[in-house]
Amino acid sequence: MEERIVSGEANLDETSLEQSIRPQLLETYIGQDQVKKNLAIYIEAAKNRQETLDHVLLYGPPGLGKTTLAAVIANEMGVNLRTTAGPAVERAGDLAAILTALEPGDVLFIDEIHRLPRAIEEVLYPAMEDFCLDIVIGSGPSARSVRLDLPPFTLVGATTRAGAISAPLRDRFGVLSRLEYYNENQLKEIVNRSADIFATEIDDYGATEIARRSRGTPRIANRLLRRVRDYAQVKGEGDITLPIAKASLELLQVDQLGLDHIDHKLLRGIVERFRGGPVGLDTIAASIGEESSTIEDVYEPYLLQIGFLQRTPRGRIATPLVYEHFNLEVPE
Ligand code: ADE
Repeated sequence: MEERIVSGEANLDETSLEQSIRPQLLETYIGQDQVKKNLAIYIEAAKNRQETLDHVLLYGPPGLGKTTLAAVIANEMGVNLRTTAGPAVERAGDLAAILTALEPGDVLFIDEIHRLPRAIEEVLYPAMEDFCLDIVIGSGPSARSVRLDLPPFTLVGATTRAGAISAPLRDRFGVLSRLEYYNENQLKEIVNRSADIFATEIDDYGATEIARRSRGTPRIANRLLRRVRDYAQVKGEGDITLPIAKASLELLQVDQLGLDHIDHKLLRGIVERFRGGPVGLDTIAASIGEESSTIEDVYEPYLLQIGFLQRTPRGRIATPLVYEHFNLEVPE
C-alpha cells in the first residue's frame, strides 16, 4: 500500500521534471540551427507586422523536440498554446469546438497530424486558409451551409512522416521544417543542461557517455540521464561519472551505440531468420512481435541513419555493419 503511494509521487515528480527541462525560448533550445534561424526570422517579421505566424509543419523522427518547439513558438509569439493530437479528434464537431475556443493569435498544436481522419482534415482547410468554418445545418433538401468566422491562429502540425500527410493539407502550411537527429555535442549540452536543472553533478565523461548512447534523440538522452541519476544515487555517491554511467547503461541493456533490446531483436531477427534480408517490414514485425508502424516510425529511422539497415523495393537489408556490431561473420 505504502509502496504504491511512494511510486505515485515519484511519477508525478518525473512529469514535472520533464516539463522543467523543456526550453522555453529559441535561444535556450539546443540544436536544429537551420530550423531555429528560419523560425526566428518569421516570428520577428510576424510580430513586427502584428500578424499571426504562418502555419508551421514540423516533421521528423519521434523525440527530437517537435512538441517543445511548438511551445517555444507560442512563447516567442507571446500567445497561448492549445494542444491536441490527430487520433484524439474523432468528429468534425471536436475540431470545431477547439477552433472556436481559440483566442486571436493562438497557436494550435496538432501532434501526429497525419492521423487526422480525412473528413476532419477537410474542415481544417478553410480554417487554415480563410479562418472560417463551414458548418452544415440540417439534412436532406433543407440542409444549408453556414460560414462561421474564426480568430486568426497559427496551426503547428507535427508528424513523424511528412509523406504520410495528404498533399492538400501539406500545401496549406507556409513553413515546413524538418528536424534532424542531434550530434553528440548537442546531446551533451542537453544532458548537461538537464543535469543542472536536476541539481545533479555530472562530469564530462559521464555526459559524453550518455550523449553517445542516446540515438541522436533528446528524449532518449533525458530518459537515460534520469535512470543514470537514479543509479548514481543508489549505487554511488549521487554524482554521475563514467563508471557510473557505463554500469547503469549496461543494466538498462543500452549498448555502445545506444541500441536497446528491441533494436537487437530486430537486427538479429533479420540476420538470423532471414539471412540478412531483403525481408518485408510486416514479416519482420510479425516475427519479433512488434507493430509494423512502431518499427517504421520509431526503430527503423535511426538504424537507417547509422547505416545498419537499407530499404530496398524488396524489403529491408541488414548491412555488414550489423554483422560487425554483433561480431558475426559477414555471409558471402
Ligand atoms: N530538451 C529536449 N530537447 C531540447 C533541446 N532541443 N534543447 C534543449 N533542451 C532540450
